[in-house]
Amino acid sequence: MKTQTIRVGVIGCGNIAQHAHLPAMQRIPGVQLMAVADNFADLAQSVAGSVGLDPKNAYNEWRRILDRQDIDAVLNLSLTIYHEDVSVAALQAGKHVLVEKPMAVTSDEARRMVAAQEKSGKVLMIAFNHTYDLASEYVKDLITTGQLGDIIHAEVFFYDDKDAWDAGALRSSLTSTQPKPKWWPDDPKLGLLHYIHNYDSHIINLMRYLLGEPQGLDYCRWQPWKQLCAVLDYGSYRVIFKNVHTKQRRFEKGIEIAGTKKRVILDLAPPLERYTPGKVTVIDAETQAVTTPLLEYRWPFEREQEHFYACIREGKTPRTSGHQGVNDVVIAEQMVAMAMGDKK
Ligand SMILES: NC(=O)c1ccc[n+]([C@@H]2O[C@H](COP(=O)([O-])OP(=O)(O)OC[C@H]3O[C@@H](n4cnc5c(N)ncnc54)[C@H](O)[C@@H]3O)[C@@H](O)[C@H]2O)c1
Repeated sequence: MKTQTIRVGVIGCGNIAQHAHLPAMQRIPGVQLMAVADNFADLAQSVAGSVGLDPKNAYNEWRRILDRQDIDAVLNLSLTIYHEDVSVAALQAGKHVLVEKPMAVTSDEARRMVAAQEKSGKVLMIAFNHTYDLASEYVKDLITTGQLGDIIHAEVFFYDDKDAWDAGALRSSLTSTQPKPKWWPDDPKLGLLHYIHNYDSHIINLMRYLLGEPQGLDYCRWQPWKQLCAVLDYGSYRVIFKNVHTKQRRFEKGIEIAGTKKRVILDLAPPLERYTPGKVTVIDAETQAVTTPLLEYRWPFEREQEHFYACIREGKTPRTSGHQGVNDVVIAEQMVAMAMGDKK
């Protein structure tokens, strides 16, 4: 597998497939798109056509991708409610799997995915594109090399936007003639879990990548579709976690970390704004200098897929492995339990 072409099947041909994974894949050498599948047959056909695939390689039954012996890896870009079923079946069929975030709806589902990965020996990676941003890696390096000093405070933020996260890309989406099925649950607890998965799983994963595992959750409050506010216990400091449903037309998502030597602010770029890393601002406590490093123009979605294929080739565990990803789901569940007043 070291030098061979990796042959890929895509399951789920919606927005994130069309505007992130398929264009990113086309720029990566040594990778070949073999087939696509979507519950909507007409969408699978039109997406196949848009990337130059023969129509016979477009399916409306995702298991047809798994039946193919000439496919090594699957990008599972289906709706979150299908992440477990599709990923487990793909691993059982001997395919490597990159699954979109959130990993799964519940931590039980996520653990079953990990068990299937361990049994198969294949790669299971969760697609947290912001965690593969050069800006996130720059901040990680500041922390691990001790340049920030001891961390005394951190804040993760997402001022939820209207029509900004996609940088206009969704306006050119291919769609089915059939209406999309409604899947958002009526149950308020499950609804909040999906809300956190949808809007906040990126910053939960980014927080854990940069700061490690929280020791606990001190506080979480949810004012429906207005504000989610939480405090996480990191031992010697606390992390403030805020998601504000502003409907402003700008993308403001990231993390701010204050250390004894420097403070750093990471402002992520809209994910579908290609080749744009996040912006890092560093404030030095001693010199008072404010600096912004010049980062290469790279698209996190492309770097994420490159990492997936490198892990397949080199037999490495991904940074955002399935095993690593379970705790994102656990933290989301803990937030729901506290916000909804469950006493455990
Ligand atoms: N990384 C990001 O920033 C980001 C952004 C948006 C969405 N996502 C994630 O990507 C996933 C897909 O979201 P989307 O916005 O593309 O949704 P979407 O509704 O535009 O597309 C999903 C497509 O998958 C198809 N589908 C669903 N289940 C299927 C199955 N079992 N087999 C075959 N096709 C199936 C649907 O018919 C639909 O066409 C979700 O898990 C979502 O959380 C991630």
